[in-house]
Amino acid sequence: MTAVGIDAIEIWTGKLKLDLAETFAPEKGEDPEKYTKGLGLHASSFPDAHEDIVTMGANAAHRLMERKGLKPDDIGRIDVATESSFDNSKPVSTYIAGCLESVYDGDFHHANKGERKFACIAGTQSLDDAYNWIKAGRNRGRSALVVATDTALYARGDPGEATQGAGAVAMLITEEPSLVALSTEQGYGSADETDFLKPNQQFPSVDGKRSMQVYLARMREALEDYESVAGASHPDDFAYVPFHTPFPGMVRKAAVLAYRHMIRDTPIEEDLAEEIGFQPREEDYEDREAYKEAIREHMDALGSTAAYQEWYDAAIEPTLDISREVGNWYTGSVHIARAAALKRAAEDGRDLAGEVLGVGSYGSGAQAEVHAETVRDGWKEEIDQLNVDEQIDDRYDLSFAEYENVHDRHNHDKSVELEDFTIPESEFVFTGRGRMNERTYEYVE
Ligand code: CAA
Repeated sequence: MTAVGIDAIEIWTGKLKLDLAETFAPEKGEDPEKYTKGLGLHASSFPDAHEDIVTMGANAAHRLMERKGLKPDDIGRIDVATESSFDNSKPVSTYIAGCLESVYDGDFHHANKGERKFACIAGTQSLDDAYNWIKAGRNRGRSALVVATDTALYARGDPGEATQGAGAVAMLITEEPSLVALSTEQGYGSADETDFLKPNQQFPSVDGKRSMQVYLARMREALEDYESVAGASHPDDFAYVPFHTPFPGMVRKAAVLAYRHMIRDTPIEEDLAEEIGFQPREEDYEDREAYKEAIREHMDALGSTAAYQEWYDAAIEPTLDISREVGNWYTGSVHIARAAALKRAAEDGRDLAGEVLGVGSYGSGAQAEVHAETVRDGWKEEIDQLNVDEQIDDRYDLSFAEYENVHDRHNHDKSVELEDFTIPESEFVFTGRGRMNERTYEYVE
């Protein structure tokens, strides 16, 4: 069976940085450790004045095409996943294609373009679309370009303000890919929820605490649904488990839930029983509330066992390396978690080819998806090409007053002029608006 999956990946972070402990916490009158330890976040990326979801996506895609020596004719579809779109009709993929056409001979007239929306899970849905298109044999030898790009801004003063971020991930989906092959098996947990939404508004309406509960509930359903086709999963099945990462603290909660689920009725549960007892079984409790309370206590105890900590340090913690420095990238978030894990494996000199990742994606509203990915022989060469660390280090460090201006600049309801903090070089930039209020771009050498 032909393997289909991610052949190449490029990451573009917004070029500005808000330091949460040094700059944000003092202004909020909060203990810096609420952010660094509680949420697990050190900084957020923001777009410079000349950046937006189109420039970040086009710049990531351009780098990917250059590195892989691709021409427009090699790409048969361009799907953009975003929840920061500025147009209800014209998709961001057309703008990105327009940018790319300005620097390549040839065009993307043959390419099917679209925009996927389902909060943060749309990036994974776009991967799935590309996978299905290639598996169906409709790609005529061409690859798919998937771009997940977001400016994740919250209203000033919203509790979510600490979890903002901006950046793009471009992925090339092909047959016999170099990086990872996607499993045919998938599991879904999907329900009509009102935890986080943007009813024709730029900044989300969020019920933060509820959104965390919904994330966990849908993720559990997705894992169970995945197991119904792939068989029971075990912690040892996966080298890494990249989750959607709105902030690392959310992943800490998802990880212990997944671990509890995976070790049930295994020798690991038996070994741990001496220390913390067996997992509560619903039939042993009088009512659901009592059962839920027992589960909460058990999860707390499980989370502090050496067995769990060892698994967490190996399979989860490396996936957070990029997120903790850049914040939430919505649709791109799970894809930077995968990249972070592979990057850590490369840095540790680990031979990962043939090993499996368990990928947990999530979008508010709400839907989770679990699938597996098998790491391919060319993974290390591909991951070694990433320059995300340099990008993170090169960001301009904003003062709080500058951050306020940047937030206003990217607020669609405000019209704020702002000098660039960084000098654009070899990249696409936003230049203004055209006659029909369309956004305009150019490439700066
Ligand atoms: N030292 C150490 N830890 C501290 C601390 C300190 N001084 N002060 C607080 N903490 C801990 C808290 O105990 C808490 O940890 P636990 O949840 O493990 O108890 C953590 O820091 C956060 O503190 P609060 O709960 O008090 O923070 P908050 O209420 O101000 O905001 C939030 C938290 C609700 C998640 C908010 O950031 C938010 O609304 N975020 C946006 C919504 C979101 O990201 N939801 C995630 C699921 S939905 C999703 O995933 C889709 C998406 O991308 C948006």
